[in-house]
Parts: sequence; C-alpha cells; structure tokens
Amino acid sequence: MRRHAPLALGAALAIAACGGETTTSPPPPPVQAADTTPLRTYAAARGLFIGSAVDRGFRYAGSDGVQFRSVLAHQFDMLVPENDMKFDHLQPQQGTYVFVHADSLVAFAAANGMQVRGHTLVWHRQLPSWLTSGTWTPTQAESLLAAHVSTVVGHYRGQVREWDVVNEALADDGTLRPGFWADHIGADYIAQAFRAAHQADSTAILFYNDYGIEWPGAKADSAYALLARLRAQGVPVGGVGSQGHFQYAGGTPSADVLAANMARFAALGLQVHITELDVRVPVPSTADELQTQAQNYQSVVAACLRTAACNTIVTWGFTDRESWIPSTFSGWGDALLLDATYHPKPAFFAVRSTLKNGG
Ligand code: G3I
Repeated sequence: MRRHAPLALGAALAIAACGGETTTSPPPPPVQAADTTPLRTYAAARGLFIGSAVDRGFRYAGSDGVQFRSVLAHQFDMLVPENDMKFDHLQPQQGTYVFVHADSLVAFAAANGMQVRGHTLVWHRQLPSWLTSGTWTPTQAESLLAAHVSTVVGHYRGQVREWDVVNEALADDGTLRPGFWADHIGADYIAQAFRAAHQADSTAILFYNDYGIEWPGAKADSAYALLARLRAQGVPVGGVGSQGHFQYAGGTPSADVLAANMARFAALGLQVHITELDVRVPVPSTADELQTQAQNYQSVVAACLRTAACNTIVTWGFTDRESWIPSTFSGWGDALLLDATYHPKPAFFAVRSTLKNGG
C-alpha cells in the first residue's frame, strides 16, 4: 500500500465539477468525454495524493475565488501553500509570527479532505530583511534557524503531513549553494533543520526538495550523496522532492529516465515525490504543443506510478490563470492542467487517464 487509508471525499466531491470537458480534443490514450471523475478519485484508487500549490493572496481570495476554490477542492486532495509558509511570510519581524494566512489554507484543506504539504522551512530565498541585513554570529544564526523551524512545525503539529524542510541547498553544479544559512552556519544547517523539525513533530515526513534532480547528472549525484550522508548520520530525512519544473518537448525526461532516477533515491529508504510539477510552453501555445505537453505530463505520472516510493504528485498551481512562469520566463506559460478559464487541457486528460488506466 503506497499511502494512507482512503479519504472521505464527501463534501469536497459535492462541489461543482469543472465544466467544458467536451471542448478540447482528447490526447492519447483517449478518455471518454463523459467521464467527469475528478483527478483525486483516480489518484486515491492508486494510493496516490494529487496536489496543487495555492497562492492564497491571488486568485484564491480574488474576484474569481469561488470558482478557484471549487475546482481546487474537487480535483485535488493535497494543498501546498505556494508562498504563505515561507520564512518572510511567517516571521516578518524577529520573533513575531504571522500564521493567519497559512492557517486559512490549512483550514480549507481540512474542510475539504485535503492533506497539506508544508513549503518551505529553510531556503535561501524569501527571507525577511531583518534577518538578511542583520549581523549574526554562527551560533546566533543556528538559534534563529532552530527557533523558526520548531515554532512553525510545532504550530502545525499533526496538521501537515510532510514538510519541505530544506529547499534548493545545491547549486546546479552540485556544490553547496551559497546563501544566508550556508554562509552563516555552513553545510551543517541542513542536518540542524531536519533535527529541529523532527523534534517539533515526529510524525511529519521530512523532505529535501530541489529542482534539476529529476534526471541523472551532477546535481542529482550530489543530492544523492547528500541524502545518503544524512541517512547514514541518522538525520531524520524521510523523503526527497523532485520539483519537476519542465519545459515541453525535450525538456521533460522520459518515464524510463525519471523512474530510474527515482529508484536510485528510493533505494536510500526515502519517499520520492513530485512536488512542483509544471510543463511550460511558448505562448500563445499551439494545439501541437499542448499535445506534447500532455505527453510530458503523462511521462511524469507514469514514472511515479512505477515507483512504490512515489505516492504524491503536486502541480505548481492548476490553472494557467495563476502561475509563476510568465513573470519568470518571458514568452512562456500555459504550463498547468487547466486553462485560464478553468477548462481542462489535453494535459489534464492525460494525467487523469494515466491515473485511471496506469502507467
Ligand atoms: O505578495 C506580493 C504582492 O503584494 C505584490 O503586489 C506582487 C507584485 O509583484 O508581488 C507579490 O509577491 C510575489 C509572490 O510570489 C506572491 O505572488 C513575489 O513578488 C514573487 O517573487 C513571489 O514569487 C514566488 C517565488 O517562488 C519566489 O521565489 C512564486 O509565487 C512561487 O511560485 C515560487 O515558488 C518556487 C518554490 O517556492 C520553490 N521552487 C521554485 C518555485 C518557482 O520559483
């Protein structure tokens, strides 16, 4: 069994289905247009969680928030705060914690039978200026890290299934990425963060999360070595998150490559989750590009299904109305499962049919 006992979906599934499923031509393998079964139902049948990142401050609470929240709860059974659990959001002033926004997402998840992935405790980005502009000794920095991790994980004890404890600690060449924590504490900040998180909630599954480790190479090798070392030292790391920010056609590894790489991490005794999946295409996108994108999504889901240690797939948002891609990669977008008007794209049908029929 990959995961948990099946969830009670009741209330969530009573919410209106997203419509328009007959407007898009189906990708291979074909799915009957009449099938309105949500992703989470097929995922649960395979022992998987299917999740989405949610930026509470934008569409979630904006003018179309009703539809956004309905589709979110209908299709997904895991929620990841896209920004609201980051250090600058939770501790904007030293010792002053602001949980209200992240709490509202956790409450929404609980009300709709969704699990929560906490993202992210320790990262080199989205740190508050009081921290980055201060002058700290290594010992002071260690205390600040421990205080933040134990306060946040303690606040959500029992409510967050898994945490991204350390995010993106490695540079693209596999060396330790410079940044506030590495610069002040050195590489040991990683083990310290995991130990503090475990002490605050011994039931949460603790992840190392990164991008560019989905396929073999220097960065994946380095992540493997890091995780092997942490495991050997008894550091309580339970999983590795492969973010999965891909470019369509050529930028997305095949299911075989993905699965082989996942198997390597799984052999360390780790869970291996897809934590931030999206597949960007040039915009305006063409029908052909969206078909290729659908095949790319299919490869990722198939790889996870082939991997016993993979029980979670999270997409980094779910509607092209809201995504980090266009503002970061000029000329690119349309990276998610539903279009900007919440209509399912070929990628949606590809993911759903793969969950339904297997990889
Ligand atoms: O909240 C302000 C808003 O008040 C203001 O009007 C607006 C103007 O630009 O900015 C808003 O803040 C933005 C925030 O997202 C919320 O939308 C920040 O400028 C922007 O930098 C921030 O970007 C986030 C990014 O992480 C920051 O590093 C993205 O939403 C988020 O998707 C992205 O997520 C990361 C993961 O955490 C780690 N893996 C990579 C992934 C993509 O970069």
